[in-house]
Amino acid sequence: MNTTEETLDPSNWNEMGELGIQMVTDMMYNLSTVRDRKVWQAPTEDVKKYFRQHVPEEGDSIENIYADFKSKILPYPTGNIHPRFWGWVMGNGSPLAMLADMLSSGVNLNQGGGNQVGSLVEAQVIEWFKELFGFPAEASGLIVSGGSMANLIGLTVARFAHADFDLRKEGLYGSQKRMTVYASKEVHNCVNKSADLLGLGSDSLRFIDVNENYEIDLEKLRQQIGEDRKAGMKPFCVVGNAVTVNTGACDDINALADLCEEEKLWFHIDGAIGAVLQLSEKYKHLVKGMERADSIAFDLHKWMYIPYEAGCCLVRKKDQHYKAFSLQAAYLQHEKRGLSAGETWFSDYGIELSRGFKALKIWMSLKEHGCKKFGRMVTQNIEQVQYLKSLVESHADLELTDPAPLNILCFRYTGGIKDNEILNRLNKELLLQLHESGVAVPSYTTLNGKYSLRVANTNHRTVKKDFNILIDKVLELGREIEKADLVSQ
Ligand SMILES: Cc1ncc(COP(=O)(O)O)c(C=O)c1O
Repeated sequence: MNTTEETLDPSNWNEMGELGIQMVTDMMYNLSTVRDRKVWQAPTEDVKKYFRQHVPEEGDSIENIYADFKSKILPYPTGNIHPRFWGWVMGNGSPLAMLADMLSSGVNLNQGGGNQVGSLVEAQVIEWFKELFGFPAEASGLIVSGGSMANLIGLTVARFAHADFDLRKEGLYGSQKRMTVYASKEVHNCVNKSADLLGLGSDSLRFIDVNENYEIDLEKLRQQIGEDRKAGMKPFCVVGNAVTVNTGACDDINALADLCEEEKLWFHIDGAIGAVLQLSEKYKHLVKGMERADSIAFDLHKWMYIPYEAGCCLVRKKDQHYKAFSLQAAYLQHEKRGLSAGETWFSDYGIELSRGFKALKIWMSLKEHGCKKFGRMVTQNIEQVQYLKSLVESHADLELTDPAPLNILCFRYTGGIKDNEILNRLNKELLLQLHESGVAVPSYTTLNGKYSLRVANTNHRTVKKDFNILIDKVLELGREIEKADLVSQ
């Protein structure tokens, strides 16, 4: 054996295997005891300092490295695996899906394409979502890193499909008319980013007013499209919200599908949060019409509880999807036999060529629990938030600040204070103290000038009692801050 040749494999496989078993044991303990710990704590000064070192020139022992992980990384994450984390819109992940991530890295296949089993698994997962969301056989899809990327994929296909010039050749220079996209003012800002990235310009993203329930105002939408056409623009796409990030509102999906049909526009749905309502027997009526969309972006790391990262975009017509992303190159020629065969090369349907095996954890999770259980979890999360709503409404010192129709609820502490500016300062201070207490993590938003605590429940570990704990702590902190007069000037 030539001793000058090196490898990254361990010299002792058993030792590595034992450490791996210890890691799995520790992670199971970490998950099973999560309720006993604080939801969140900030990294200490020592930890911050530790992560500002020069690149290691020589290796360290795997035991030391793992000890660093346990003392310096494990205690300081965002906290979204905890039963009382309801900030932004974050899922918890699940134990089997966590193990699936290890298996994905273990087999380390490249999901860009080829005649290999990863493509079959991803195709299977896409077929399942097509079936669940009522998409036709000729639809296609792609697993991506999350909702932002899934929206970008959908809007890219929309722009290609509606360009009446050779978009690939000319870019937007070929456009005689400004191509415009429509969405409510409540649309997530990843759609703005998509418009930026597609070179459309923010003036091409037309924000439409919402009604008192934060749903898109259909009449105003129709009017804006008409005015833009008259002004010489080329409307091409409407983005419907299947659950908005701020308040959990759901646009009238069927009405938007009708409008897009009449106006001959691409109908894209940002279902990052709410597409999975379709799995809930009780709430699926809210997304009726989703099956009529041209494309749907949805997240799996939110309300499907898959560990980061996982999202998906479905496109009604596979050929349109393919056309937007497939490019020929001699070094990527598809063959009829051998490894470079394979029915679907997913790199032909998205931006990335090399791709990880995210499909495995989704496949394993759906196999483990079945879609009915996910539907029940979605229903449970909504009903837990409706329970929280009843708690907020029953306290004179608290005020609900949005209609909270589903799993997102905004509220604030009011106590005996009437001045809105003081209330805004008080609630901001309250939220920061709540995070620092480690008792619960909601996030925040401002609605009609009212700074609000915002609970988004996509948490499979929450039980109703957790919301009693939240309310007790909010009242305790609110009263303390009010009494100490911390925020009146
Ligand atoms: C409605 C909505 N759309 C899109 C996104 C972006 O998704 P991601 O964070 O997975 O990129 C979010 C994120 O919270 C969202 O709530």
